[in-house]
Amino acid sequence: MPAIDRPRLLQLPTKILGKRCVLRPYRSGDGAAVFSAVMEDVEELMQWMSWPKNHKGADDSENYVRDMAGKWQTREALVMGIFSLDEKTLYGGTGFHGFDWSVPSLEIGWYLRKSARGQGIATEAVSLCCTLAFDHMKVNRVWGSCDALNEKSAKLFERVGFAREAHLRGERRDHHGAVRDSFVYGMLARDWSARAGASN
Ligand SMILES: CC(C)(COP(=O)(O)OP(=O)(O)OC[C@H]1O[C@@H](n2cnc3c(N)ncnc32)[C@H](O)[C@@H]1OP(=O)(O)O)[C@@H](O)C(=O)NCCC(=O)NCCS
Repeated sequence: MPAIDRPRLLQLPTKILGKRCVLRPYRSGDGAAVFSAVMEDVEELMQWMSWPKNHKGADDSENYVRDMAGKWQTREALVMGIFSLDEKTLYGGTGFHGFDWSVPSLEIGWYLRKSARGQGIATEAVSLCCTLAFDHMKVNRVWGSCDALNEKSAKLFERVGFAREAHLRGERRDHHGAVRDSFVYGMLARDWSARAGASN
């Protein structure tokens, strides 16, 4: 896989359709839906991520989606909303927020609103992200990390086919001030191809 020299010139889809959900970049007007999704279970989200604390009102969420819409264009973040098939309900968000275009390697992240969990929606959304990364963008590696106690995220990585590459002990302080362990998971293009071949 060659390096991606000018990521802003990559042609990216405006919508990715799955069987249970649709992914698309955020746009102006999505803020109210993001705020409602975050508020559904902000305590659970705050256990694992710091950004929900920035969403104190719908305007904060609108500011966030406009920021993400801009960063989609500049490739500083490739974050998408996870929507129902009719696009009327926002289930959560996923996408890429860390990049080494020379590899190319992308860091993935996600959340689901409480009412959307337990149905395989995140599994499908993350698989669609892998399709975007490996089949469309032709990257070498997708990786991510989660708190070692974040069982739902660890299971999600493993369900999609990521390999646990590291258990980093006492490597960071979380936003509550506790020193925490992290798991690092990765998937290579060749892993993704092997999975696709095995399921055909
Ligand atoms: C991480 C998170 C997205 C996982 O959500 P999830 O609902 O467990 O994941 P999925 O949508 O893929 O659903 C999988 C669950 O649905 C079940 N399921 C039902 N139908 C399914 C299907 N067709 N395919 C796959 N799973 C299915 C699975 O058995 C699984 O249940 P289990 O965990 O009890 O085994 C969610 O817990 C979350 O938003 N957490 C807070 C945010 C967070 O931690 N972000 C990451 C920070 S690093």
